[in-house]
This record gives sequence, C-alpha cells and structure tokens, in this order.
Amino acid sequence: MIKYLIIISFLCCQLVSAQKVQFTTAVFQTGDSALWATQSFNDKEWKPIGLQTYWEEQGHDKYDGFAWYRIHFNLPSSLKEKAALQDLMEVFFPGIEDADITYLNGAEIGRTGLMPEDKGGFRSGGKYRERHYILRADLPALRWDKDNVLAIRVYDGGGTGGIVGAQSFIRFLEPVDYISMDAQSSDFKIKDKTVSKEITFQNRYSKNLDGVLTTTLNCNDSLVKKQVKSVSLMPGKNVISVLGLASEEAATVNFVFKETIKDSILQSIQDVPYILTPKEKKEPKINSASAFGCKLGVPFQFTIAATGTRPMQFEITDLPKGLKLDAVKGIISGKVEKEGTYRIKITAKNNTGKDQKIVDLLIGTKNTIATPPMGWNSWNCWGLSVSDEKVKSSADAMISSGLANHGWSYMNIDDGWESSERADNGSIRANEKFPDMKLLGDYLHSHGLKFGIYSSPGPKTCGGYLGSYQNEESDAKSYASWGVDYLKYDLCSYRRYFPKGILTLEELKVPYLKMYRELESSGRNIVYSLCEYGVWDVWKWGSEVGGNIWRTTGDISDNWTSLKEIGFTQEIPASYNGSDYGFGDPDMLIVGYVGWGDNLRLTRLTPSEQYTHISLWCLLSAPLMLGCDLARMDPFTYNLLSNDEVLAIDQDVVGKGPKKTDLPNDIQLWVKDLADGSKAAGLFNLGDKLLKKSFKLSELGFANAKSIRDVWRQKNLPSRDEIEVNIPSHGVMLLKIVSK
Ligand code: GAL
Repeated sequence: MIKYLIIISFLCCQLVSAQKVQFTTAVFQTGDSALWATQSFNDKEWKPIGLQTYWEEQGHDKYDGFAWYRIHFNLPSSLKEKAALQDLMEVFFPGIEDADITYLNGAEIGRTGLMPEDKGGFRSGGKYRERHYILRADLPALRWDKDNVLAIRVYDGGGTGGIVGAQSFIRFLEPVDYISMDAQSSDFKIKDKTVSKEITFQNRYSKNLDGVLTTTLNCNDSLVKKQVKSVSLMPGKNVISVLGLASEEAATVNFVFKETIKDSILQSIQDVPYILTPKEKKEPKINSASAFGCKLGVPFQFTIAATGTRPMQFEITDLPKGLKLDAVKGIISGKVEKEGTYRIKITAKNNTGKDQKIVDLLIGTKNTIATPPMGWNSWNCWGLSVSDEKVKSSADAMISSGLANHGWSYMNIDDGWESSERADNGSIRANEKFPDMKLLGDYLHSHGLKFGIYSSPGPKTCGGYLGSYQNEESDAKSYASWGVDYLKYDLCSYRRYFPKGILTLEELKVPYLKMYRELESSGRNIVYSLCEYGVWDVWKWGSEVGGNIWRTTGDISDNWTSLKEIGFTQEIPASYNGSDYGFGDPDMLIVGYVGWGDNLRLTRLTPSEQYTHISLWCLLSAPLMLGCDLARMDPFTYNLLSNDEVLAIDQDVVGKGPKKTDLPNDIQLWVKDLADGSKAAGLFNLGDKLLKKSFKLSELGFANAKSIRDVWRQKNLPSRDEIEVNIPSHGVMLLKIVSK
C-alpha cells in the first residue's frame, strides 16, 4: 500500500516525455532549515503546493520570508538514452519570487538574487526572471531511476512569493542549446551595391556541430534569392559570411540555421539596407547652398562643399572686400564691413573637369543663416558622456568620410561640457573632458567646420550642469572668445522660477531675448537655436527674440512611433519657415549609431523609415543635425546622408515649409515650393503594407508636369500622365516636379 502511494505521488508531481521531466506540484513548508535541502529528509508531513501560482493564492496569504519547496521526481535512464547529447542538463523555472537557492539531492545547482544573510543583504532576483540551472549529467548527486529531490529555498522580501509560471522541468540540453547565432551585431557591408553580412555562431559544445544555413531575400512579399550553405561549427567562435544580399528596393533577409541532429532552428529576420543614392563622380560638383548669411563686421567663414577627386582647386570671382579664399581647402574667411548681398561665382577644378556655381553672400540681413544649418550634435549619440576626444573623432570623420563635401559643417557640443563651478571672475569653464575650448574651436575651423555649444537660460541645464542664468553677458563673451558659431539654448531649469510650471509668453521670451542681445554684441556670427520644446507656438515668435531656429517638439527617439509623431505633425510649425525668418527644428536626426550615452547601437529605424526621416526633414526645411557617431558610420548611413539632390531640397534658398494632403490608405503627400519654381513632393506610406499603385499626376496636383524626377535615385521618370509607385511600408518616394 505504501509503495502504491509513493508511485501515485510521483505521478502527480511529474510528467515524463521523451525530452523532459516536467514538474507540476511540490510539497511546501514555510520557515528555514539547512536539513530541508537533503534528499533523505522526511517531508511526509509537508503540504502539497502547485508550482504555477504564488503561495499567497494557495493558503499562505500575506506570507513573506523563507519557505521551501521540495519536488520529488524519478529520473528515468531512458531520458538519457534518448538524448542527442548526453553531457549537460537544465533545471528550469519560469519564475521565482524573490530570491532562491536550488539544491538537487543536497547539492546546490544554482541561485538567483541575494539572501538576507548575504553580504549587502537581501536582493530580489528580479520579477519574472527565468531560472536556467545547468548541471552535468554525470553529477554524482543525480539518482537515475530513483527518487530525486529538488529543494528550493525561497525568500520573499514582500508582495507575492513562490515558484510561478507555466512549466518547470529538467531536461537534457539539445544541440541547438549549445549554439548561439548572432546575425544582428555586424553591419551590413555594402560594396558596389553588393550587400554582405557576417554571422557569428558560438558553439559551446566540445565537438563540431553541423547544420545548414539558409538565407532568403524577400522583396515586395516575394522571394528574390535563396542561398543554402552547409556549415560545420567548430567549438568556439565561427564567422560565416553571406554575400549577395543586394536589393535596390526594400527587402528583408531571413537567416535560418537548422542543426542536423534534431533539425532545430535558429532564425533572424532583418531589413536589408538598400542603396538609392548613385555613386559619387570624380568630376567636381559644388554642393553648397546658393546662399550663405553672416552678420556685418564679424569673422566670416564659409567652406565650399564640393565632391570630386582631390586635389581640387577653387577660384572665386567678385569676392567682397575683406574676404580671402584658401584655394586648396575652399575656405572663404575674413570680415565684410559693408552690408549687402554679394553674388560670387565659385569654380572648382580637378584633373577630370570643373564645376561652377553662383552663391549669394548675404551680409547683415535679418536672419543670420540663409538656409537650415547642417551638421552634427553630440546628444543623440554620446549624451552627457561627450568629450573633446569624441567631438574631434566625429569632426575628423566628417572630413575623411567625405560628408563635409555635401555641406555638413556644424560640430555642436550638447549638454555635458560645463564644469561644476565658474571661475573666480564668474566666467564659465569647461569640465575636465574639454581641456581647451579655444583650441577645439581652432581645430574645427582649421578643417573648415563650425563650432557649436549648448547652455540653458536657467541656473542648471537639463543634465544638471551649469546654465547661464544671470551670467548671460559673461557666457556670450566666453563663447565668442572660443570661436563659437552656434548656441543651443535649452529652457530646462528656467521653468523652476515659475512654481506652478506656468509661464506667460512674455515671461518666456525674456531670457531668450536677453541672451540674443548678448550674442549680438559678442562680435561673432552665432547661430541662435532656441530649445523650449515648442511651447507657446514658438514658431510665431522665435524670430522676434532673435532665434534662427527653434525646437518645435519634445525629444525624438530612434523608433517609428517617435519619428511619426514628431515628423508628420510639423505642417503648421513649418508653415512659418522661411530664409528671411528662421526654421522650425523637429529635433536631431536619428540615423547611424546612436545611444544617448556610452553604449551605441545602430538606429532602430528600418532603412525605409530612414529614407522617410531624411526626406521629410528636407521637405520641412528643417535643420539637419546628425546625432550619430560619425567615426563609426556604416555605408548605408553615408549613402543616405550624401544625396545632394535630396539635401538641396532642404537647402533651397526660399526655405519654405511644405503643404500636406492626406490620401486614402494611410498615404500622405507633402509638397514644398522651391526657389526655381519647381516643387518637391514626398509621397509617404505610413501604413503597414507595401503600396503598389499608379497615380494620375492630376490626382497629386501635378497635371502640368514637364518633367518628374525620382530624387533619391536621381533619375527622371517616363513623362506620362501617370506614375507607378512601389513604396514600402513606412517608406517614401521623393519627387521633384518641373511644370510646363
Ligand atoms: C533636453 C533637450 C535635448 C538635450 C538635453 C540635454 O532638454 O531637448 O535635445 O539637449 O536636454 O540635457
């Protein structure tokens, strides 16, 4: 009779399958004793308990503290015989609250969290944290074909306690458990439109494990390419290259590794970057905007942005008095003492040819900048960990990568550069990460770049560093002495001066106006970038307080929701934009390696979303501030940021905002009037499906089109009354339309 009962009790606490012994119930006791860990302890008096819900729900309401679970199970040797690999086993619990130490027949096999007696005291192992306790199958404590006891000492520090979750079990590790596949960490490599990728496998088993790696490329929901490769994974690291993933349209790649012994699968699906910008030519091409603004009688610096092989020789006709040209670097510098618009003709020559462009230098006009600033800001990549070294490494990369040749020029330090105390004379100082601001400014200028900085009208910045409150004059002078060209002025702690968080508009304007006056008399041409997150419709009065650009939104983040919420709500703010007024700033770009701190990652936006991001910002006439580590730029990101026809839409000298039209099926059309009378238009697919459709040009409002150009691909479309579009989910088709 006794024997019969024991068998029954085994049956009700374990389910044996070919792969695992599953646990469903245990016996339970509150309190604590080291004896309860052993296999031989007599727990007959203990009460049964389920393993799927907290002990509070099983008669131990509000119990916090120590309790033990004992799970009896038989370990059939057939489990071992059937295992593909007989080396390691796993004891698995989906969750234990809060901390546990787990014993098998008296031997500790794992622990999570800290117990009250541990150094530092109790610490929860983390809610919902799975336990994967691995043991060798030859562990002497294991009792094959006999009663085994898993004893789990649990400590509940408050709230619910105990073992919870769908399934707890013991099993042998399968071949696939020894293998990890990392297809995410490496960048897609792109060379002449051939995309490749390295996949890293780790084989933690002692022998080779074989399998088949199948790569499929899908475009517009149909299979484009399939590659099947047999692989034998050696113990340790294995790097496998997969080539030929090239696609000229949005595509996804599916990597599937199937190991041979059990046919188990590891899989990763990713969006493949697709290249749209044609390759740069050897011949010179001047890419600078056709207007550049500067205040009167202050240092002037303008670098001609031009692509084409170096060395290149620059010439200028009609350069105004006071300016000189560095004919090799293409940097124009000096000081102009007479107000006016100076039309200059720039020539760029190299051994393959030449290019010419007319540029207007606007000296002393109302808005300091003629076109939205293009450059880099440290915030979206480095956050508060920005340093002199990091700024320089991105500056060097701005030049060496060739990005500067497309017009990118500002190098702006965001928050995190300020020291914790002012100097004795009250002037602001940089912290230890920036040994010499003047030297840094000189370094940037010598490379033809511009130097930007950040502060707050409050006593503290958003990152808790020193702001400019009551030190505006001194700070503006310090910036000017370092050679600063750009100031981002971020509201932050200034809000605290209004206890209920309420400011009147007039109160809000005061600190911005104050700093503007100081910048005006600083003796430098400092672009003034207001950052107050768009409150009180800043686009209506940003210019009045001297702003050249003004943030129209809260902080952006590298995901589609954020991009969509910010970007596609800019119609009204951008409708105020204009070269003679200023530009709304929907925040910095979220492409490339970003991270807001020391740990950077490739943006979470898909390639199509990134084309949308850049296209929309250009249509909005928004400042283009890269927020990524330029020293670690992948080929896709470079390609995305170096399309001169796209950038020219942003840098159009009229600087207007676009008009939006909603079309059926989550399609939006944004159209911007350009200075030459043509129009730029973005047809955005905000939906989740590919948009394959033909549009009548009259439907889009372009009935009179003489020519219509696909701007990303830099190709004219056949001139018909209709256009065929194939726009991926969250993607865009960017067009330039010239009317008859
Ligand atoms: C935020 C601002 C960010 C960044 C940050 C620095 O208020 O929106 O762009 O400048 O402060 O602390």
